Amino acid sequence: MKIIVIGKGGREHALVTALNESASAPEVYCYPGSDAIFATAKPLPGVVTDVGSLVAAMLAEGIELCVGGEEAWLARGLADAARRSGIPTWGPVAASAQLEASKEFAKQFMVRHQIPTGGYASTASLDEAKAAIGGRYPTVLKFDGLAAGKGVAVCTDETQADAFLAEVFTDKRFGDGRVLVEEFLAGPEVSVISAVSDGEYQIFTPARDYKRLGDGDAGPNTGGMGAVASRVLIDEELLDEIESTVVKPSVDGLVADGLDFRGFLYAGLILTEDGPKVLEYNCRFGDPEAQAVLPLVGGDFAAYLDRGARGGLDGSLVAFDDRWSICLVLASAGYPASSRSGDAISGLGDVSDARVYHAGTRSAGGGGFETAGGRVLAVSATGASRAAARDKAYAELAKVDFPGSQRRSDIGTLHFDG
Ligand code: GLY
Repeated sequence: MKIIVIGKGGREHALVTALNESASAPEVYCYPGSDAIFATAKPLPGVVTDVGSLVAAMLAEGIELCVGGEEAWLARGLADAARRSGIPTWGPVAASAQLEASKEFAKQFMVRHQIPTGGYASTASLDEAKAAIGGRYPTVLKFDGLAAGKGVAVCTDETQADAFLAEVFTDKRFGDGRVLVEEFLAGPEVSVISAVSDGEYQIFTPARDYKRLGDGDAGPNTGGMGAVASRVLIDEELLDEIESTVVKPSVDGLVADGLDFRGFLYAGLILTEDGPKVLEYNCRFGDPEAQAVLPLVGGDFAAYLDRGARGGLDGSLVAFDDRWSICLVLASAGYPASSRSGDAISGLGDVSDARVYHAGTRSAGGGGFETAGGRVLAVSATGASRAAARDKAYAELAKVDFPGSQRRSDIGTLHFDG
């Protein structure tokens, strides 16, 4: 089977790896991919300028399954166009991808289906947003559109809120759009990602990502500086509560609203004193959660996604390892405010007991790699306990470096007892 993964980051590198490790041994392609991904996936021949030409190139190559990694392609109608052309696609159609692409759409969906979430107001101007904040801090401000992980600000004071609102409404950093002013929810976060197909769902291994740049959750928000995953990350009772109050009502809500959904549905949750509440939905696997969760998935992941893309799930096709998995991100100098490229990466060949997923790298010739900005790579390791996985991941990460690299030292420690 010829399968293509759409995207180019660490999540897509993890998806390509998991597909390659599938028992059915598919032929794996990636678009647009990266130099590192192309070591194990074929590039898609042809010129791609939009969804139409991407689907045409897939058809010309005989692609039999399309796996959407990046949200932007799904929001632009990749799944609609591919499915119309007869290519089963894992990733929702554009109408359903609005759950991620529009924060207001997602909030309205949650309210309609009684899914627990924080209160919010939707605002169209700086003055409206300031009135909705009403001097109450901390507050959460979200641009109502896709912003590559940069459209959310948790503001502890007016100065921070003003700076974000100026970026959105004055500088139009993300284009035109509204801002949601959301209630600030306190508590540890958990990412619960489910495979969903035509009203059926299967919850994958729960994970926790660490979004702030610095140790102790200090510094600016990033795309994620690391993640930890395990079947026992949260206890069974809490997972049951999340299933009954969030996952099942979300999947049933999609069906009730006539929203076709075949793909990963990501619920970003905060465990408040009043129970789990949804911070956000995403319509694809998390990044860096994929780099922590997918090494724990065994069986035939390719056959599982193929079945799901055609309608319905067959849980017997995959197995979940009950070990712990930890993924540690190395980010480039200046990230996230800016980012530097062209720094030589050393030590990649020395990593022996972990996986390396490339996100922002490019070939530097002679088999080496250099940074290409943003989050550069992730090192993922598994272990029988959280401590064992963490020790291994940090020991392997210590072998890799580049000038100006940034990393956290508390992934898999912070927000856990002991
Ligand atoms: N880890 C957060 C995200 O994938 O959006």
